[in-house]
Amino acid sequence: MINIALPKGRLGVRVYKLFEEAGYEFTGILDNNRKLVFENKNLDMRCFWVKPFDVPVYVERGTADIGCAGKDILLERSPDVYELADLKTGFCRMAVAAKNDFIDDESKILRVATEFPNIAQNYYSSQGREIDIITLRGSLELAPVLGLSDVIVDIVETGTTLRENNLHVINYIADLSARLIANKSAYKFKCAIIDEIIKKLCSN
Ligand code: PRP
Repeated sequence: MINIALPKGRLGVRVYKLFEEAGYEFTGILDNNRKLVFENKNLDMRCFWVKPFDVPVYVERGTADIGCAGKDILLERSPDVYELADLKTGFCRMAVAAKNDFIDDESKILRVATEFPNIAQNYYSSQGREIDIITLRGSLELAPVLGLSDVIVDIVETGTTLRENNLHVINYIADLSARLIANKSAYKFKCAIIDEIIKKLCSN
């Protein structure tokens, strides 16, 4: 059996649709209920919804043979897994954003609010800039607006959330999209089926 970890939420729905188009269907998976595990006995596959940040944990530990995770989460967690394919969906960018009237005083430690402390730290270390990281869980845009931070390091998709809160991008850090990842030993033993899944997912 192949076990697949899908990220709960918007990206997960997009990614599941790729699976469905590729012929891997899990009845009821998009129904509005609280069920987490879905099996297709004919395909000998099982799918489960996990929090997006947790997909690499399930895959790294082998509970899932494969999983779909945003590149943001892979950059943040650096899991010991194979990143096998760009699923070409969920395109967005990791960016630094600040209030429209923000002026950077480079002599000061920069206060950075983010859900991605490792990405932020790596980015500013590469710039040789000392920062104070404030780790938050969502609605990051509030931090500079209310004066909790100078900037945010966050995901930007359409830019609407920034615009509506009088913020703007000051630097782009990375291009992001959904990636297919695999457990290293599962890939060794199940590479034929995993490669077939990738081929079908990526040929649509
Ligand atoms: C993400 C991100 C931004 C928003 C960007 O938040 O953190 O807030 O999307 O999208 P946009 O550029 O299209 O406006 P999400 O909606 O996932 O919720 P969160 O704030 O709880 O993380």
